[in-house]
Amino acid sequence: MTTANTSVFRAGLLDGQVALVTGGGTGIGLGISTLLAALGAHVVIASRKPAHLDAALAQISAAGGKVSTVSLDVRDQERVQASVNEIVATHGRIDLLVNNAAGNFYAPSATLSANAWRSVLEIDLFGTFYCSQAVYPIMAQQGGGRIVSTSMTLHYRGWPLMAHATAAKAGVDALTRTLAMEWAPQRIRVNAIAPGPIPTEGVRKAFTPPAESGVPDVFAAAERHMAEYAAKSIPLGRWGSPEDIANMVAFLASPAGDWITGAIFVVDGGEWLAKPAL
Ligand code: COA
Repeated sequence: MTTANTSVFRAGLLDGQVALVTGGGTGIGLGISTLLAALGAHVVIASRKPAHLDAALAQISAAGGKVSTVSLDVRDQERVQASVNEIVATHGRIDLLVNNAAGNFYAPSATLSANAWRSVLEIDLFGTFYCSQAVYPIMAQQGGGRIVSTSMTLHYRGWPLMAHATAAKAGVDALTRTLAMEWAPQRIRVNAIAPGPIPTEGVRKAFTPPAESGVPDVFAAAERHMAEYAAKSIPLGRWGSPEDIANMVAFLASPAGDWITGAIFVVDGGEWLAKPAL
């Protein structure tokens, strides 16, 4: 786990900042929450699963981080607004929003139910919009803020069985650029990160195709032969880790990110450029 001593960033870099990280209790989100807390931010972790919140709270506070939790489904706009109000009532500000919560699964488009389509669009795209819109007045009033959303690279070429997620993340990219332009006068920097292959439980679950689809389980096969896959398919020769993404978030949250808005950073070891279409 990253600590103030092992991080490449200086201790206290984010002292005084308040960060809200959706889906911040597991996987990449937990890596982000952990690093932000290690650098001095007070991190509010949002998740709809109490077990994820409790475990993350225990882990980060045991390491000396300032952390609290909020039970939240980002699809519920009223709860998003109420949660943001609670955070401001307690902490007085929100400096950084990390729209990390995402849902995804392999499913054929021809038979994707309306509810399945809606679930992923609502978590990935609507949730990103609801959270961004809710923090806007706070950030505008305090003279600025940072929003960092999670994107992906699969929509750059299209990815079979992921119509819902690729459409949602293309929307996140568009939203990132548009909000960056719209909210620049308020000094709200809006950026996104597109992670490459990072073997977390959530990604593993999302990238297991249904047996009946006949689609090869590329992720599992790659994981079984991790070193070989990395050597062959990831130009920089290794799989990613939550810390790789967390470092980019910390950079964007720091003064180094002052002149960056509307950018979508691919953090993937060069994988998408080298990957053949599925
Ligand atoms: N294939 C087809 N449809 C699926 C599906 C799959 N693998 N998984 C879920 N759905 C459908 C459900 O059947 C349901 O539609 P229906 O009511 O028409 O049957 C709809 O999606 C909503 O499913 P539900 O179980 O209520 O999920 P949810 O809305 O609470 O959460 C996810 C949706 C995407 C978060 C959940 O599927 C999930 O946990 N995915 C894996 C974790 C993940 O995505 N992590 C992110 C890594 S990038």
